[in-house]
Amino acid sequence: MAMPTDTTGACQTNTILKEFKEFDDTKAGVKGLVDSGIGKIPEFFIQPQELLPKSSEVAPPSLQVPIIDLEAIHKDADSYKQIVQELKQASESWGFFQLVNHNLPKDLLDEVIKGIKEFNEGNKDVKEKLYSRDIKKKVSFASNLSIYQMSAANWRDTLNCLFDDSLDPTEIPLVCRDAFMKYREGLLPVAETLYELLSVALGLPSDHIRGMNCAKTQIFVAHYYPPCPEPQLTLGTSTHTDPSFVTFLLQGSLGGLQILHDDHWVDVTPIPGALVVNIGDLLQLASNDKFKSIKHRVLANTRGPRISLATFLVPAFDKKKPFGPIKELLSDKNTPLYKEVLATDYLKSYVSKGLNSSALSYFKL
Ligand code: OGA
Ligand code: NI
Repeated sequence: MAMPTDTTGACQTNTILKEFKEFDDTKAGVKGLVDSGIGKIPEFFIQPQELLPKSSEVAPPSLQVPIIDLEAIHKDADSYKQIVQELKQASESWGFFQLVNHNLPKDLLDEVIKGIKEFNEGNKDVKEKLYSRDIKKKVSFASNLSIYQMSAANWRDTLNCLFDDSLDPTEIPLVCRDAFMKYREGLLPVAETLYELLSVALGLPSDHIRGMNCAKTQIFVAHYYPPCPEPQLTLGTSTHTDPSFVTFLLQGSLGGLQILHDDHWVDVTPIPGALVVNIGDLLQLASNDKFKSIKHRVLANTRGPRISLATFLVPAFDKKKPFGPIKELLSDKNTPLYKEVLATDYLKSYVSKGLNSSALSYFKL
């Protein structure tokens, strides 16, 4: 694999890559390292100084991402309008919000987190068998899939699961299978409601986004962030934007997720039972920059494990339909800012560049 040497991409010496390879070959992930009792983190986890958190960039704790409460959605026309207005504001200026009263029971969300915990802390053979860097696999487990495009590894292990019409559920590890299936089933109607509200917020007919088939495939990315002995030297997840249309995130109870808002990092404080939602690159593109795909990261921590599940909603991969700014939004005053792109090509370019820079700029006109 070609190795870029600029400061934004990978800049790794052969020794570090060799050490990463040895770590990768254990198939035990970061949890395996922690279990072996290390007191210092291996060098390939140490981030360059400029990518580590700086105290001067921390937002005051009073600054919080907006909360969108769906409770009154069916009450009356005024309540509906109010929710749309809040969602519009949140999507334009924050790109992130916490959704409450969305109808998914808290018990189910807790069950999902518990299933991910049990998978990571359970039978080592099951994890080893699933360990793979082949992104064509529907279900796989790996630590740092995009390591070869990154400046340093992240302190986490990840179970990936691609839900589309052809997924055989028995491929999903047994300890989290039921919870994943139920969560997916419950999430799809929430996504439909959100797409309706987003359509109205953009001034489009309420079924417009649903008609774009942007929830056809759901990529479950289940992270396990073990406690870290030197959290100030590394990151749980490097700064990135999501390549999705929309992402739903269950972040467990430990905190650590931060988003970049007005050049400051804002903590996304866990709210029990809430779903964190963010606008992905593909919705920024479709909305012609009206809605924003915002940079975010996860801090490493001595407490832990921290467990989360990001669900990327993306358009169907098999569709040959190009994806571009929504035509109905365009006018002489709002000319297209992006080229049309196939969703699968977008994801490919995202994977090839790693987490450190946004793929959206490649598609700017
Ligand atoms: C992601 C992500 C945040 C988290 O997987 O894209 O941003 O809390 N995850 O794990
Ligand atoms: Ni993300």
